Amino acid sequence: MKRLLIASMLLLAPGLVSASGGGGYHLEDADIDLADKESLQRGARYFVDHCMGCHSLGYMRYNRMGEDLGLDEVQVRRGFIFDVKTKPGDPMVSAMRPADGEQWFGTAVPDLTLVTRWRSPDWVFTYLKGFYADENRPYGVNNAVFPDVGMPHVLAGLQGVQKAVYAKGEDGHQGPLEGLELTQPGRLPEQEYDQVVRDLTNFLTYVGEPMKLERRRLGIYVLLFLGVLFALAYALKKEYWKDIH
Ligand code: HEC
Repeated sequence: MKRLLIASMLLLAPGLVSASGGGGYHLEDADIDLADKESLQRGARYFVDHCMGCHSLGYMRYNRMGEDLGLDEVQVRRGFIFDVKTKPGDPMVSAMRPADGEQWFGTAVPDLTLVTRWRSPDWVFTYLKGFYADENRPYGVNNAVFPDVGMPHVLAGLQGVQKAVYAKGEDGHQGPLEGLELTQPGRLPEQEYDQVVRDLTNFLTYVGEPMKLERRRLGIYVLLFLGVLFALAYALKKEYWKDIH
């Protein structure tokens, strides 16, 4: 029993560590809803407009995404494909060459198909809200959950600029990063920016596990089927026992 307990603790431990996000910075609840098709569609739009210049979703195809998100082929072609050579059956790959990316950002630009699975939806949400001004970095920004990040704050125009707020450390030294404060507003009020980031996180979570949408749909059919079966079985039981009582 004791051994079982220890084994299960070992299994759970990595989950606990990743849930805290490392570095001790508090992760915000992304509060996403995979059943919200409109949020997923908006997230897909934002991704293509703001992220696909650098990042790919190499394991997701345009037409599969369209099917899952309730978009027909014309909508997918018009709204998401900007290059005449790209077909709806192609994977969602960035036009940027990986070698160029590495040269420009000093690090490989990761494919984001599975990012919500190796991080977590909450991490991605907090990351996209976590850029703050830092003159010592090449792009002038750092990130609360990804220290010394190589990505510029591509949504700064929407969010604005934040500055870091540190806790008070021992004898006057600077403590750990405690929070962020908006010093220069962007085009969107805070709640609207949160919604943009939530839609993006929702979309990336769907991309990481497209079968989740399918499973939910199947689950509803299974429940309906069981309900009908129960009604029939009950009627049959009544019929059988009618004469006995
Ligand atoms: C100008 C290029 C560029 C654009 C545009 C861009 N990114 Fe990035 N992104 C990067 C680079 C480079 C990294 C790698 C950072 C590193 O490793 O230090 C990165 C890393 C990330 C990571 C962290 C991945 C990890 O290592 O776990 C996430 C999440 C991410 N980007 C999401 C986005 C989203 C969402 C958008 C659109 C809103 C976006 N990025 C737009 C260049 C870009």
